[in-house]
Amino acid sequence: MEVTIKIFRYNPEKDRKPSYKTYRLEAVDTDRVLDLLEKVKGYQDGTLSFRRSCAHGICGSDAMRINGLNRLACKTLVHEVGTKITVEPILGLRVIKDLIVDMEPFFEHYKSIKPWLVNDDPVPEKERYQSPEDRALFDDTTKCILCACCTTSCPSFWANEKYVGPAAIVSAHRFIFDSRDQAAGERLKILNEIFGVHRCHTIFNCTLACPREIQITKAIGEIKMAISTGKLD
Ligand code: SF4
Ligand code: F3S
Ligand code: FES
Repeated sequence: MEVTIKIFRYNPEKDRKPSYKTYRLEAVDTDRVLDLLEKVKGYQDGTLSFRRSCAHGICGSDAMRINGLNRLACKTLVHEVGTKITVEPILGLRVIKDLIVDMEPFFEHYKSIKPWLVNDDPVPEKERYQSPEDRALFDDTTKCILCACCTTSCPSFWANEKYVGPAAIVSAHRFIFDSRDQAAGERLKILNEIFGVHRCHTIFNCTLACPREIQITKAIGEIKMAISTGKLD
């Protein structure tokens, strides 16, 4: 079948403003959008720029807007999106070139919530034990691959880039509800600040966009609840 792919193009070093370029190519319905981008770059236009690494939904580097929705190009098949495809960079972050955005502000938010295990107890001889029930409390949020599909689909983030965003909150949740961690109170304090969880108005775009199907809005709700009850301080 023939597929038409319209791609956002912008090189701030050369172009006065962004534009779209349309390419036609042969594809089968099990091709991934990433395959199409590779074909365009390899055979039609070597100047096209996009990020990718694993090509298997693990590294999180090829988040983009495909027909208006945030998705990973390597997990999106032609038969899911049709033969007329529009590809644009994710919103809310500066475009460096074409589909590549500046992820630095996203990772700054991520770092701000201390995404590592804090435990000052003496290191045990073996592992730090945890019951299956305690492990289950944060199982969902361990699945995050930091692709930014959630944060860059959130209207609260579009309105104010200082909002820490759902991805950072998901990472905070992963440690706040981990029984082995000792910094829940510190993280909740950070998330209780002006650009923390209260910027979330339960819009749900984040949950719909997550390629790992993490229940993000639910996780944010659990953190809001922990803050309001003071339970984990
Ligand atoms: Fe991506 Fe989901 Fe993690 Fe957000 S929570 S960064 S959408 S994997
Ligand atoms: Fe944004 Fe998700 Fe909340 S889209 S407003 S972080 S529920
Ligand atoms: Fe790694 Fe798509 S290229 S997630």
